[in-house]
Amino acid sequence: MNEHNKPLTLSERADELEEEMMHELSARIATKSTFCYLADGKVAMAEGQALLAANPGKHFLMGADPRLPPMPDKPTLIDFFKARFASTAHLLQSATHALKGGQPEKVVLACLLHDIGVTSFIRCDHGYWGAQMIEPYVDEEISWAVRMHQALRFFPDPSVGYEYPQMYVKLFGADYKPEPYIVAEYERARNHKWYMTSRLITMNDIYAFDPDAKVNLDDFVDIIGRTFKQPKEGLGFDNSPSSHMWRTLMWPTRFL
Ligand SMILES: [Fe+2]
Ligand SMILES: [Fe+2]
Repeated sequence: MNEHNKPLTLSERADELEEEMMHELSARIATKSTFCYLADGKVAMAEGQALLAANPGKHFLMGADPRLPPMPDKPTLIDFFKARFASTAHLLQSATHALKGGQPEKVVLACLLHDIGVTSFIRCDHGYWGAQMIEPYVDEEISWAVRMHQALRFFPDPSVGYEYPQMYVKLFGADYKPEPYIVAEYERARNHKWYMTSRLITMNDIYAFDPDAKVNLDDFVDIIGRTFKQPKEGLGFDNSPSSHMWRTLMWPTRFL
């Protein structure tokens, strides 16, 4: 289906098949999820039978995608940082800023993880996705703070010197107004006992990325060890409410 909800024409379908073929591996067929098509502006999906017909004798990938860095059998948060997070500079700079500012370890961890929704997964509503991923493994206060930074970053708090980020004017335009669900979330968060923990994420959020800043994941290994409950089975295999999200990051092109 295309963006107007009409069936694809033959040539559109051929283009798509060609694109799928580009993802064809030597022995297995890697497929893109519907969400990836949506992100390309198409309401479309990979049709299993058509792909099989175009790749005689092959089967679909049901595990690791050999184009991506390999993951160990029992992956840790550090493994995901190294092999799946597309960028870590912003997370490390924010966490370093919090660490140098003398913030408690829980705030440093919240800063280190606050945008993993964006760096590993999805931009829209990244605070909610990121919070859901980490919820089983961190103090409730930390995941709450990560979730709420989604809304708080849009609202100034003069009592602590937080202003609306100039970067957002650049990114979204001067006339951008947060949607009602964000405003409502902000109002709930504003009166919550953990408000300041989430506010500290926004205060340590480094909007002007410094390409020369010396930041290193190694500086946070001990803090992660003390504040992130790494499951012994590996992230994705511990039967937690978010295991499937970690598995999906590990195997993003699994057929099912
Ligand atoms: Fe964020
Ligand atoms: Fe951020």
